[in-house]
Parts: sequence; structure tokens; C-alpha cells
Amino acid sequence: MVFFISNDKYLIKIKNIMSDKTKKFLLQEKDIPTAWYNVVADMKNKPLPPLNPATKKPLTVDDLSALFTTEAAKQELNATDQWIEIPEEVRDLYKNYRPTPLVRAYGLEKALDTPAHIYFKNESVSPVGSHKLNSAIAQAYYCKQQGVTNITTETGAGQWGAALSYAAKAFGLELAVFMVKVSYNQKPYRRSIMQTFGAQVIASPSMTTKAGRKILTDHPNYQGSLGTAISEAVELAMQTPNCKYTLGSVLNHVSLHQTIIGLEAEKQMEMAGEYPDMVIACFGGGSNFSGITFPFLRHKLTEGKDVRLIAAEPASCPKMTRGVFQYDFGDEAGYTPLLPMFTLGHDFEPAHIHAGGLRYHGAGTIVSQLLKDKLIEAVDIKQLDTFKAATLFAQSEGIVPAPESSHAIAAAIQQALIAKEEGKKKTILFNLSGHGLIDMTAYDQYLAGDLSNFELPQEDIDKNIAKLEKIIK
Ligand SMILES: Cc1ncc(COP(=O)(O)O)c(C=O)c1O
Repeated sequence: MVFFISNDKYLIKIKNIMSDKTKKFLLQEKDIPTAWYNVVADMKNKPLPPLNPATKKPLTVDDLSALFTTEAAKQELNATDQWIEIPEEVRDLYKNYRPTPLVRAYGLEKALDTPAHIYFKNESVSPVGSHKLNSAIAQAYYCKQQGVTNITTETGAGQWGAALSYAAKAFGLELAVFMVKVSYNQKPYRRSIMQTFGAQVIASPSMTTKAGRKILTDHPNYQGSLGTAISEAVELAMQTPNCKYTLGSVLNHVSLHQTIIGLEAEKQMEMAGEYPDMVIACFGGGSNFSGITFPFLRHKLTEGKDVRLIAAEPASCPKMTRGVFQYDFGDEAGYTPLLPMFTLGHDFEPAHIHAGGLRYHGAGTIVSQLLKDKLIEAVDIKQLDTFKAATLFAQSEGIVPAPESSHAIAAAIQQALIAKEEGKKKTILFNLSGHGLIDMTAYDQYLAGDLSNFELPQEDIDKNIAKLEKIIK
């Protein structure tokens, strides 16, 4: 139906039904930050260095440059510069979707009947549906700048692969993506998105690499994990001329690129006239968590601000809440450097939950040190609770969230309900890292009652952890 605004009476009627409560806090393109924030510069206890697995010696920029671009390698080891300039070409592509909105979740607050004020940073508005583009654009740019022609990567649920496929095309790079087999089958349209951007997508484990062939020989029905897909992507990068490997999470330079989320959110919370009591994000390898929390952690480290930073991980893949702090490989085959991390052991096989992007055995180096120093917290969330939270969020805010992001929503709801019980007005900020419009198979299964929680017996954790060399005594 079309309404014609024909008289003042009608205008007054519209005014009466619209409240003056601001729903979205919006920045302009000119407000896109010009530098990323490097939290390591402000950390009293610096993260331990990555080690060469053979010599156990700390790796240098030159060592890391065999696999990554020199700029990424420098950023990885940068412990001194608080701010790292964002290249203009990267900022130009950020304009396709940044700044992203900060949204007050009035609908969710009402549904929960909570005194808490809930805000979310909406990274799902990126053209590929998640925060992953923030680092994909930067990494592809550095490859192009260095004259690299081919890149490889892994992807879990396909969000990182989709983001990198678009970024690779934007900078004219050839991309091969190893996609975890269970997600390749669960989320065929993410594969189609990557192919639409021109990437080659291979289900992992595959027969195209030594690492893939080995695991398929030992476990013919293995449905894959991020750890295995990383091994395959690293192996292909090492064997292909003028090729670099890119990673969508875990590493310091990826977390650095994601700080654009929190830097914008910081300004937007100011526009809203509030400061968060807690900042929450889901946790796979740590990039969106780092991205939204590190700029707030800066206030805690440099001004003593009291803000809780909470990582929400799956109960079936609980490296932060039940893992150990030890050096471990970032991949299943042991091709990567040894990284100091909270880990479940690199050959831990995560359950087939729908949050494919959270099925990773370890946490990034910086977040691991922060957790050890009790500067951040972690909670674990069961699969059914994530879908219950996701459904409530969809119904109250009109956005179907990614199964990964639903872990953050569930944790935010838990905190809002605690505030209600205690009768306290808390301000909660969480990161909506992506939308779930390509994850509807998961929702179908949830709505049909076909999903379950996965229990993880302590023996399964202990058996993998026992295999780790005790480098940290
Ligand atoms: C939508 C979404 N959120 C979160 C994650 C988890 O990754 P990270 O911990 O690096 O943010 C993923 C990973 O694929 C994802 O797709």
C-alpha cells in the first residue's frame, strides 16, 4: 500500500508512533579509522614468541616471510608500535561496507525484560556477510603489493573463504581454498559464493596434498577440521611458485586488522553516551573477539578502566575454558611454527557443530597470554543454547545470525538475565560477527528438533594434551 503524505495531521500521526530512541549509531566514511591498534605494545607481559619446531628458536620476520608476505610477518612480530597505518587502498575497499552500524538491541532487551542496555556491532552488513573481510582485504593488498600472484587458504564455515575470494579478485590474485569437508557439504552456497568470485574450492581433507592423503588413509571418513585444512593450504603454498598462504584467524596480524571493529565501536558508544560494562564476542581462533575487545582493553591497560571482556566458545571445542597453555602447532600435520596458545592439542577432532568457524583446537597467541594474565574471560556455550539465543535474536531484532555469532548472543543474553536478577542496569556490547542466511540448513535442523549438544569427556581432552611436548614448564 502506498501512503501519500497529504496533510499535517498525518505527519503528526507518524511523529507520535515513532519514538526518539536512537536505534543505530552511524559514522561517516571519513570516520573510518586510519590506523589499526596493536595491543601488544601496551601489554606488560608480552606474548611468548613463535618457535621454529626443529630448533625451538624464536622465529624472525625473515623466517615468517617464507609463508606470509613480509608486511604480514612484520606485523606478526611487532611488539612496539601502538598504531599501524591502514593503507589507503585498503581503506578505499573498506568503504564498500564500513563504517558498520552500532545497534541498540531494544527488541532483545524487551523480549528479555532486562534493565540491561544491549548494543551490538553489526559486522554482518559486509557484502560477504561477516567480519572476515576486514583482514581479507588487508592480506590480499599486501600480497598484491609484494608482487605475489597466487594465494592459498583454509575455511571452516566458508565465511573467511568467501571474504578472501572477493578480496583476491579485487587485487587480481589466484586463490585456492581448502574448505572443511563437513561445511563443504553443510553449506554448499558458501562454496558457490567463493566460486562466483573466481576462487578454486577443494573439500578438505583432499587427495591433492600429502597431509590430506595421510589423514584419509588413516581415517577414510574423516570430515575435516580447520587444523587439517590449514595443513593442506600451507603445503600447497610452499610448493607453488610466487604463492603465499593467508590465514583468517589466530595470528596477531589478523587480530590487528580486526581492531577496526572496536575502534569504530568505541566512537559509536560515545555517540550513544554509554560505556560498556562488558564486551562479548564469539571465539574461533580469536580474530573477531580481538577486533571488538582490544580497543576497549586499551582503556583497561592504559587508564585502568573496569571493563569485562568475555570470549564465548562452543562447549564442544573448549580450548579457552578446558584447554592448557602450551606451545602447539596451528595445524593438524605440524607444518606451522609452534605457537604459545590455549590448546586442546592439534589433533583434537571437534564435534560436527554447525558453527564451523569455531571448530578449531587453539586460541591466538595474544588472547592466550591475556587469558593467562586474567585480563579477559571465557565462557562455553552448548549448541542448543546458541540456536535458542539465535532464534530469539532473529525474532526480536530481525537478523538471522551466523551460528558462530550466536555464541556471543547467548553469552550476552546470559549477562542480561544476570543483570535482571540483580536488578542492575548493565551496558553490554557484543559483536554480531556475521549473518546466517547461508546457514539455514542448521536452522532447519534446529527447528525440526534434530540438533543436539555434544558432551566432551575429560579423557578425550587429556589424551590429546598428553601428546604435547612440554616446552612451557
Ligand atoms: C561469522 C563468524 N564469526 C566468527 C568466526 C570465528 O572466527 P574468529 O574467532 O577468528 O573471529 C567465524 C569463523 O569462520 C565466522 O565465520
